[in-house]
Amino acid sequence: MRKKLIAGNWKMFKTNSEALQLANQVKIKTTEISKTKIVMCPPFTALAAVADVVRGTKIGVGAQNLYWEKEGAFTAEISAGMIKSTGAAYVIIGHSERRQYFGETDATVNKRLISALENGLTAIVCVGETLNEREANVTRDVVGKQIRGAFNGITASDFSQIIVAYEPVWAIGTGKTATPDQAQEVHAYLRQVMADEKGREIAESLQILYGGSVKPENASELLSQKDIDGALVGGACLNADSFGAIIHSAEAL
Ligand code: 13P
Repeated sequence: MRKKLIAGNWKMFKTNSEALQLANQVKIKTTEISKTKIVMCPPFTALAAVADVVRGTKIGVGAQNLYWEKEGAFTAEISAGMIKSTGAAYVIIGHSERRQYFGETDATVNKRLISALENGLTAIVCVGETLNEREANVTRDVVGKQIRGAFNGITASDFSQIIVAYEPVWAIGTGKTATPDQAQEVHAYLRQVMADEKGREIAESLQILYGGSVKPENASELLSQKDIDGALVGGACLNADSFGAIIHSAEAL
C-alpha cells in the first residue's frame, strides 16, 4: 500500500519572517497527522529556517531546484550538498515553470536527479503536458518522453528516493483542475511506462502525486483515485488553513 504524500511548492513566495510563520502554523495544524507524509518546499532563502521549525516532527522540507555540480564558479546556483546541509531532505526537479522559463530539458532534469540521488535527497520529478499538447492528443507521448528522459540510466535501487508529480501545465495556477478521471488516466499510464521501463515492482511502489489547482474542495476526490498517491500543491499551500485542510483530507482516506 502506497502512503499518501502532500507536498507544498511555495514557489517564489514568502520572506523569511512569513516563511517562519507559515511553517509554524502548518506544524500546529498537523500535530495529529500520522499516516500522511507532509513536505514543505520554501524558497532556498528560507530552507534552513523552515527545517529548524519542523525538526523533530514528521514534516519534511524540500528545495525547488538544484544545480548538478558539486561546487564551483556557478554564480547563484545551489548544489544538492548545500540543500542537504540546511536540513532539507527533498528537492523538486523539472517543474514546468523551470522548463518554461528557465530552459530546463529532460537531459538537465536527468543530471539534476542524478546529483540529488548521489547526495541522499529524495527527488520529486515533475512531468506534464501543455494545453496545446492535450488538445493535440499527445499527452501520453509528452509525459512518456519526459519520464523516460528523467530516468535515463537510473537504476532500481534509486527508486526508493524518487517521487513523480504529474502536473498538467494547463491546470497550474489557473483554477482549472484536471478531473479525477483525467488525472487518474495519466497516472495509470505513467505507472505503466514505469512498469515497462523499470519493472512492475518499482512501478507499484512509486508514489505519483497530482499537481494543478489542488484545493481543499477537490483534494479528497483526486486523492481517492487508485493511482494518485498525493498532491503537489502550489497556491493553496501558502495558507496554513487550506494546506492543513488538504493534508487532513488525505489523512481521512
Ligand atoms: P497550483 O496549485 O497553484 O496550481 O500550482 C501547482 C504547482 O505548480 C505545484 O508545483
